[in-house]
Amino acid sequence: MSAPPPGLLPQGEEEKQAPSPCGRGLGEGTTTVIEAERVAQRFGPRTIFRDVSFTVRAGEIFVILGGSGCGKSTLMKQLIGLLTPNEGSIVIRGHAITGPHGAAGRHAMLREIGVMFQSGALFGSMTLLENIMLPLEMYTDLPEPGREAVARVKLGLVGLADAAGLKPAEISGGMAKRAGIARAMALDPPLLFLDEPSAGLDPITSAGLDRLILDLRRDLGATFVVVTHELASILAIADRCIMLDRAAQGMIAEGDPKRLRDESTNPSVRAFFRREVLEAETAR
Ligand SMILES: Nc1ncnc2c1ncn2[C@@H]1O[C@H](COP(=O)(O)OP(=O)(O)O)[C@@H](O)[C@H]1O
Ligand SMILES: [Mg+2]
Repeated sequence: MSAPPPGLLPQGEEEKQAPSPCGRGLGEGTTTVIEAERVAQRFGPRTIFRDVSFTVRAGEIFVILGGSGCGKSTLMKQLIGLLTPNEGSIVIRGHAITGPHGAAGRHAMLREIGVMFQSGALFGSMTLLENIMLPLEMYTDLPEPGREAVARVKLGLVGLADAAGLKPAEISGGMAKRAGIARAMALDPPLLFLDEPSAGLDPITSAGLDRLILDLRRDLGATFVVVTHELASILAIADRCIMLDRAAQGMIAEGDPKRLRDESTNPSVRAFFRREVLEAETAR
């Protein structure tokens, strides 16, 4: 039996109102940024997951992990308001995005989040600069020179200052991921969602992306929710994580991934961490 995970405080209400006296050493207090309670998703007769509950705190890098098809992207779509859960409630930065006022909550939340989808989703006919200027055009009154200046700053942040004039087909996979992150940051959102930022990248490029995420968190103080199944990434960046499992149709672990790796007694959690560790060792 493991101890109750620290994120599942029954007194969630109190935590929202006042910073907890027992901070987690991030220097950010413990303001709750995301509160998901007993969330479920079904497609037709099929339950993808149920009873998924967790809290994300300001300044954290929070990872959603698990094998392919367990519902990571589905959960992320619920968190960004693209999919309404069949059950449960989600509050993002104080906005209830489910329930009777969910539509208003989702609308209010949109300006406060940035999203990088699994597919990257850059527009192929536009340069990187134009791709990053697009959200600024849609959501701000900035004149064009201002939009361009902001977009160039974001490209600089992800190390693509010199690639502003290139189109997505002209850049590498790693650069496209960086550009996707720059676009997600266009509006300076305090909360960023990244779906599989390192999928399909070689280990060195992937490690560079992990460093970028850590640097951005340090420099911007933003909160990150990152979906990934890459163990090296998880161990490098995650303050805390939850693990979803397809067979269990829900969450099977929550906490510091290093502790889960070393201490979990759940066979599926152990298999996830051990298999990947063995693969990494044999690859060397
Ligand atoms: N809109 C949808 N309609 C029906 N099934 C879906 C839909 N979206 C996802 N699924 C199914 O839900 C499961 C979880 O998908 P997904 O969240 O994409 O998994 P992951 O990101 O963990 O790989 C998959 O079996 C997928 O086929
Ligand atoms: Mg996915």
